[in-house]
Amino acid sequence: MSLLITGGTGYIGSHTVVELQALANEQDIVIVDDLSNSSTKVLDRIEKITAKTVTFIKADICDYEAMNEVFSLHSIDAVIHFAGHKAVGESSEKPLSYYYNNVSGTVILLKVMAAHNVKKLVFSSSATVYGDNTSPLNETMPTSATNPYGQTKLMIEHILFDLAKSDSDWSIACLRYFNPIGAHESGFIGENPNGIPNNLLPYVAQVAVGRLAQLQVFGDDYDTVDGTGVRDYIHVVDLAQGHVKALQNLDKISGCKAINLGTGNGTSVLEIVNTFKEISGQNIPYKIVPRRAGDLATVYADANLAHELLDWQATRDLHAMISDTWRWQSENPQGF
Ligand code: NAD
Ligand code: UFG
Repeated sequence: MSLLITGGTGYIGSHTVVELQALANEQDIVIVDDLSNSSTKVLDRIEKITAKTVTFIKADICDYEAMNEVFSLHSIDAVIHFAGHKAVGESSEKPLSYYYNNVSGTVILLKVMAAHNVKKLVFSSSATVYGDNTSPLNETMPTSATNPYGQTKLMIEHILFDLAKSDSDWSIACLRYFNPIGAHESGFIGENPNGIPNNLLPYVAQVAVGRLAQLQVFGDDYDTVDGTGVRDYIHVVDLAQGHVKALQNLDKISGCKAINLGTGNGTSVLEIVNTFKEISGQNIPYKIVPRRAGDLATVYADANLAHELLDWQATRDLHAMISDTWRWQSENPQGF
């Protein structure tokens, strides 16, 4: 039996593949990725870490025929679906590209899965679906979205709930990620954004390594510990292990279940900058600028459901997250 990982050469997908390969009873792994935001160099790095090979197929999840062939050639048992576009700002500039790739792509994937009677799915959702609810955020809260990217995650969640309601054979975990950061401790794989990073950690890391001159801190007048935004940063390896646990516990999930993957702790922008400075020994110049439109003061998870349902909780602290980010960035200053 094989496990299909869409978007498996991306940041979270590649770390998840490494964790899946570490299992004693590991299944064959088939990665489908169109390489729109990743590189095949990741495959060599995964092999270097795990000493195991994966099957890689360059394909677009929006291509029904190509996806159908993947399922015809491989005996797929379950799917972890990471493939999608993820830049919030870009999604407002190119909404159709986001709705097509993320929503239509997922519908096509689901149709192919149904046609091949594969009804086990772990899906990459996001804490963005909580809109402006007050933290700690739990899975029973109402959902909403404020940008096209967030809308795609919300729409896909609705599609998955409807699908599971229509056919009780489906088992679906919608994993709502908080803020994944860090890298594999080997330093061989990590986050490799194209162009100027949108997210805090890759930006700080590129300032530390000298690729960018200065960080802009978006607002210091929030009602938080030091006025800067607070987020629930989670080590990408903890997140990857959350996927393994979700997969192993899919049988316990009847229908579709939304589950937070976060630590339950919040860290401010300046706490990140100061910890990064301390660990890397590098200067990290920054300037306080006005708030970024759409940002909330504080976002962190109620992480209890994942503990109860999946027997999973994050174990790596901020020191590990930042040390591993720095190892990856300093050993691969230009990425892969
Ligand atoms: P990533 O861009 O590194 O990985 C996504 C991968 O999907 C890339 O390798 C890309 O080439 C591939 N891809 C995109 N469209 C495709 C298509 N049509 N067909 C085949 N492959 C396609 O992103 P990531 O950070 O690893 O995120 C993975 C998933 O998790 C995404 O769905 C993202 O929305 C979600 N997510 C990410 C974060 C985050 O902060 N990184 C937070 C919440 C949710
Ligand atoms: N920030 C800065 N300067 C920067 C970048 C970010 O000060 O250059 C601040 C932000 O204002 C925020 C914090 O750093 O307070 C984190 O910002 P990120 O952009 O790294 O992350 P967000 O919480 O805004 O959003 C991320 C993903 C979304 C996802 C969300 C919840 O980008 O896709 O986490 O999972 F939906």
